Amino acid sequence: MIVPIEKLNLPLWQTFGVELYIIRLDQTHPHISGNKWFKLQPALERAKKHPNQPLLSFGGAFSNHLHALAYAGFLHGLSTMAIIRGEQPKSLNPTLQDMKNWGMQLHFVSRAEYAQRYRVDYLDHLRQRFGDVQIIPEGGSSSEAVNACGEIWKHLSKDQPLPDYLGCALGTGATVAGLIANRPLQTQVIVVPALKISALEATQMLHQHWQANHADRTDQIELKEGFTVFDGELPYARVTPMMAALWQRLSTCYGIDLDPVYTLRVYHRLSRLLQQGHFPAGSKVALLHTGGLQGIRGCQQQLQQRSAAYIGPLPI
Ligand SMILES: Cc1ncc(COP(=O)(O)O)c(C=O)c1O
Repeated sequence: MIVPIEKLNLPLWQTFGVELYIIRLDQTHPHISGNKWFKLQPALERAKKHPNQPLLSFGGAFSNHLHALAYAGFLHGLSTMAIIRGEQPKSLNPTLQDMKNWGMQLHFVSRAEYAQRYRVDYLDHLRQRFGDVQIIPEGGSSSEAVNACGEIWKHLSKDQPLPDYLGCALGTGATVAGLIANRPLQTQVIVVPALKISALEATQMLHQHWQANHADRTDQIELKEGFTVFDGELPYARVTPMMAALWQRLSTCYGIDLDPVYTLRVYHRLSRLLQQGHFPAGSKVALLHTGGLQGIRGCQQQLQQRSAAYIGPLPI
């Protein structure tokens, strides 16, 4: 598989003489898109060898991961089940409706129960309830998935040179952990949390993934210097009027469709770094588009309304 890379011609970036690219992981597959294609590969390979063992995983009501898993199960004839955080809504949103249509069993649980999703005794309880299931952690973020994300580099189109900087979103941290552990030496990884956590907490998440993989080589200088982690400034999925306006303008004026939860935040952070002089003129910066566009269907109207409330400059 070859992941296309496109050059973006945005006025702000041209003013600073810095080239901006977008790595279109979102185009890997219409439904198993972005980092999901990589994260799910190991579990799917195993499931194909044990087709009678359902795949069970966890997520919220707009989860990109569960959406991709449901489609992958449908595609390969595998049973899938989801433990979903929060009460069952009166009507299913488009994400949940797709999952149901693709044959996924949906189980809504209280937030208190959902909080137990990493506990061994809770996972045993799920096995007793649902039988012999293959359990995939939230976000698909197993240690195998971390390794699989490290493979992303090998699939990048050779039509463009490797970037000097790669911006990527952090949720559970599995994608970024894999990318950093396998990064080409000339590329610095810029980590942008999609939730309100400090850079220190986000870095600890990365170390947990590396330790689980016995790959904690951060004592090695090239790994230590190869990435920068930023604070996550907004709560998960919060979109301010300015961010909504940025999302809208990038889409309508420049044809760049980002998801407001993850990749929009990466673009925003990269554009602030640009304005702060972080990127030397002539350097190449890439934004990793990790997909998630399916989630927009549930909030498009809200985004448009919020965007209308913003009057002011946008970093484009
Ligand atoms: C679209 C999108 N981008 C980025 C991420 C962050 O990936 P990770 O959880 O591996 O940090 C996610 C969550 O899985 C996502 O759905």
